[in-house]
Amino acid sequence: MTKQPVRKAVIAAAGFGTRFLPQTKAMPKEMLPLVDKPIIQYIVEELVVAGIEDIVIVTGYHKRSIEDHFDHMSADLRVNLRQGNKLELLEETKKISEMANFAYVRQKGPYGSATPLINVAHLIGDEPFIYTYADDLVPSSPNRFKQMIDLYEELDGVILPCIEVSSEEEFKRYGIVEGSPVRDGVLKMSRLIEKPGKANAPSSLASIGGYLLTPDVFEYIEKASAEVAGTDNEFYLTTYGLDPMIQDGKNMYACALQNSKYYDTGNKLEYIKTVIDFALERDDIKQEVLDYLLTKIK
Ligand code: G1P
Repeated sequence: MTKQPVRKAVIAAAGFGTRFLPQTKAMPKEMLPLVDKPIIQYIVEELVVAGIEDIVIVTGYHKRSIEDHFDHMSADLRVNLRQGNKLELLEETKKISEMANFAYVRQKGPYGSATPLINVAHLIGDEPFIYTYADDLVPSSPNRFKQMIDLYEELDGVILPCIEVSSEEEFKRYGIVEGSPVRDGVLKMSRLIEKPGKANAPSSLASIGGYLLTPDVFEYIEKASAEVAGTDNEFYLTTYGLDPMIQDGKNMYACALQNSKYYDTGNKLEYIKTVIDFALERDDIKQEVLDYLLTKIK
């Protein structure tokens, strides 16, 4: 049987961005710029390069500017750019709304990474899809979503992109995987533990940035949502969806991303580092940024 292609993606973008207050009081953290593009546009571009056609963004109140960003540009802006003869910028800006089919769903339900999936289940249907966070950027070569899709096509099952971690802080921040090697950099998973701390971690591979999920995940989280309702537990996809799937014998693989660098842009210091790194990748400003940074070194 030929496998269904991975054509859809869900981006979780409903978080409050409390680590970035007061900046995020009225502006979504996903719209913070990296040089001249919002973080979420980089994620959308990566998805599109990997072949994704339909993108569902799960938002909340005060996230409207995300929808505006991926909408057609206004007639006023078009006229302004044309009159100013800024034709390259006009073309680049015009393309944003044409990158994919966008749909928006407002998040409702308990706090946690499983809730956006409950909210979009009806739009995904019976297909494999990518679920990703809007503030985890992982520039990789090949593109990280492509690496995940290639592995799914080869092995069939849920795919978790991972990075190696070492500090106690990281072991307390990420979901850590356990499994047996399929080959270098790929594990068939036997457990997924959310934020275990170093002493209880089964490996040093941390799940980051999202997942390639199969549609059977919905049964698991729908069942678990009744269990979580009325408790103070965070409704983690990992604890309530993915680990139970593994325990039921479903195929799940951890994939150490090749040639990648992970940026958690939801964190202030990491965000500043990301801006610097992205600026240093840009031919138009690279040298001046570097010269400026050098003046700061005593
Ligand atoms: C979520 C996941 C966790 C993963 C992390 C980074 O945690 O539950 O397994 O390691 O994202 O992508 P959260 O940031 O929601 O606490």
